[in-house]
Amino acid sequence: MKNYTSIKDISNLSETIKEAILLKMNPFEFSELGKHKTLVMLFFNSSLRTRLSTEKAAKNLGMDVMIMNVNDAWDLEFEDGTIMNMNKSEHIKEAAQVISQYADVIAVRAFPTLKDKAKDESEQILNSFKKYATVPIVNMESATAHPLQALTDAITISELTEKKRPKVVLSWAPHPKALPQAVANSFVEMMQNLEVDFTITHPEGYDLNPEITKNTTINYNQEATLQNADFVYVKNWSSYNDYGEILSEDENWMMTKAKLDKAKFMHCLPVRRNVVVEDAVLDSNQSVVIQQANNRTFAAQVILKQLLENL
Ligand code: CP
Repeated sequence: MKNYTSIKDISNLSETIKEAILLKMNPFEFSELGKHKTLVMLFFNSSLRTRLSTEKAAKNLGMDVMIMNVNDAWDLEFEDGTIMNMNKSEHIKEAAQVISQYADVIAVRAFPTLKDKAKDESEQILNSFKKYATVPIVNMESATAHPLQALTDAITISELTEKKRPKVVLSWAPHPKALPQAVANSFVEMMQNLEVDFTITHPEGYDLNPEITKNTTINYNQEATLQNADFVYVKNWSSYNDYGEILSEDENWMMTKAKLDKAKFMHCLPVRRNVVVEDAVLDSNQSVVIQQANNRTFAAQVILKQLLENL
């Protein structure tokens, strides 16, 4: 693996999932692989799980880790040919090459604006690092994708499924803030690559990018879609067509114990209790969100391992 910016960078998904589960059983087996190698993690946005699990993954492989909140550094310019006489002090061309002097792998978190669709879809920050850095790049959630989360979710479903082809539902939920489509996008792409019966349910107006959903079944009737589900992944996203807008806060879309029935409840976290999902679900043994959070480490670890093996 050269970079991990999308789940398309995984060459053998089933082997990668198996490898992650083996790493979970024996996390220090490759603790020499990353010796004298450094992971630099750059955060343009907040994080709890990604930050700690990726650091833990790197340390399990023997890597050193340096973390920077980019807002603490010089304001970066990403446009080419700009006259830099305003507030931006450093161009990404220099910054990415400089950071590459200190890093063997660079991981980047940079959320979308949710205002400028074209700019968000260009993945300017992630792709600029990919263009100008001289070391591999890992996407720790970008404007349109969260591939480490999606790999985590695939690992969790693989661990828990009792069926050859489980029924998986991605169900939209209300949220008071406009959130990115990144987690939903990568989850959809991941489910398209697994042996699952997959359906998306959301209110009208919340269709994701059709270039991502492709021919995945979409049903606007949540109750009907949830029938006989084995895994229900709940997530809010803002509108893709009315880009970044909140079109509905309909609390009838909140996940409840009654709607979940016998399915496992999945969410990437953080989650707003009694807005996205009721306490009775999160506090039940049908919720697998803590297992998902634990698997973040092994998703990151298998990706870092495959990158280190290719250095
Ligand atoms: N799921 C996830 O990416 O969590 P953080 O935003 O806390 O990293």
